[in-house]
Amino acid sequence: MSRKIVVLPGDGIGPEVTREAVACLKLLDQDGRLGLQFEEHPVGGAGVDAWGDPLPKATEAACLSADAVLLGAVGGPAWDAFPSHQRPEAGLLRLRKALGCYANFRPVRIFEALVESSPLKPEIVRGTDLLIVRELAGGLYYGEPRSLTATQGINTMAYADWEVERVARYAFEAAQKRRGLLTSVDKANVLESSRLWRATVNRVAQDYPDVSLEHQYVDSAAMLLVTNPTHFDVILTENLFGDILSDEAAVLGGSLGLLPSASLGGKVGLYEPIHGSAPSLAGKDVANPFGTIASAAMLLRHSLGLEWEASTLEKALAETLAEGWGTPDLRGAKRHVGTAELGERIRAHCLQLTH
Ligand code: NAD
Ligand code: IPM
Ligand code: MN
Repeated sequence: MSRKIVVLPGDGIGPEVTREAVACLKLLDQDGRLGLQFEEHPVGGAGVDAWGDPLPKATEAACLSADAVLLGAVGGPAWDAFPSHQRPEAGLLRLRKALGCYANFRPVRIFEALVESSPLKPEIVRGTDLLIVRELAGGLYYGEPRSLTATQGINTMAYADWEVERVARYAFEAAQKRRGLLTSVDKANVLESSRLWRATVNRVAQDYPDVSLEHQYVDSAAMLLVTNPTHFDVILTENLFGDILSDEAAVLGGSLGLLPSASLGGKVGLYEPIHGSAPSLAGKDVANPFGTIASAAMLLRHSLGLEWEASTLEKALAETLAEGWGTPDLRGAKRHVGTAELGERIRAHCLQLTH
């Protein structure tokens, strides 16, 4: 059996962190039993430089014929002045759309070894274990009309009921497998799209009587996320709110570099850390590869059905942190190492767990 994983390293620290994640996947398949095949393609700024397009045709075609896609990050100052459609970020948005991924899972777990890495008090963050389900194919990111002139910029937040319903079902099902609490986050006191969102989530809730549903406004949810994060189980929210809340949630664990994501619901699953290309860290062997390696674990689980391999990799990540290892962004880590060495240490744990 052969399973094709398309790897899109992208820009900035993207290549460094994906290299470590791919090495972990290769280690788990050292005897070739999983049949993993890797194929690398340019995306983002790398796509612009190679083909004048942030999502080159060959890259898109390769992703559509893959079993899963692993992406690093896109963007950087070199391409910031480009027109909107030629920016690296536009390539990522087109890729998400082309794959049809609309349910973006962003789990946030606080590891005991990193409680001291958080700028928040240990008693606030300890025990946090939540999942943000971010709608990824609609909202302000894709709504029409959109336009830009010298004097006006327009974006539109629009949702159809079916777009809300399909992602809500993912969130309810996730809550059923977790602690059974779903917090739907919107701005229904002001926005029509949010009123439709809330009404639709209420309707879908009737099919999941075992899940408790609550609604929160996004401003107050943002506050609660840093004052009482252990309140949350599953957070369901629209595209832009989810983008913002997930970076905020990353603070709980101490670094943006820790958080993985899985984008599901489409033809092919897309896996990427939630952070960006961190241009100031690129090429310095300091970027945290944790979020990308954890994304690779989600890839094994959700796209390849390899639950044992996924949890083995997650155990290796947790054990490495528990020993005190971490990149410099993890202030609470006792022993600081570079990107490549942290990857090596995670793989050493992986090897022990597989023998
Ligand atoms: P960023 O996520 O790149 O960086 C924010 C902060 O977090 C910086 O201080 C950075 O050094 C730090 N950081 C991020 N990832 C880290 C890691 N793995 N290890 C250690 N520290 C890490 O966000 P930004 O600076 O706002 O954006 C930089 C570029 O990345 C922009 O072009 C932006 O559009 C792009 N971006 C891309 C993605 C993506 O590809 N999915 C996501 C967010 C931002
Ligand atoms: C993320 C990023 C992207 C987003 C950008 C780079 C398009 O911030 O994945 O969180 O806003 O979705
Ligand atoms: Mn983001």
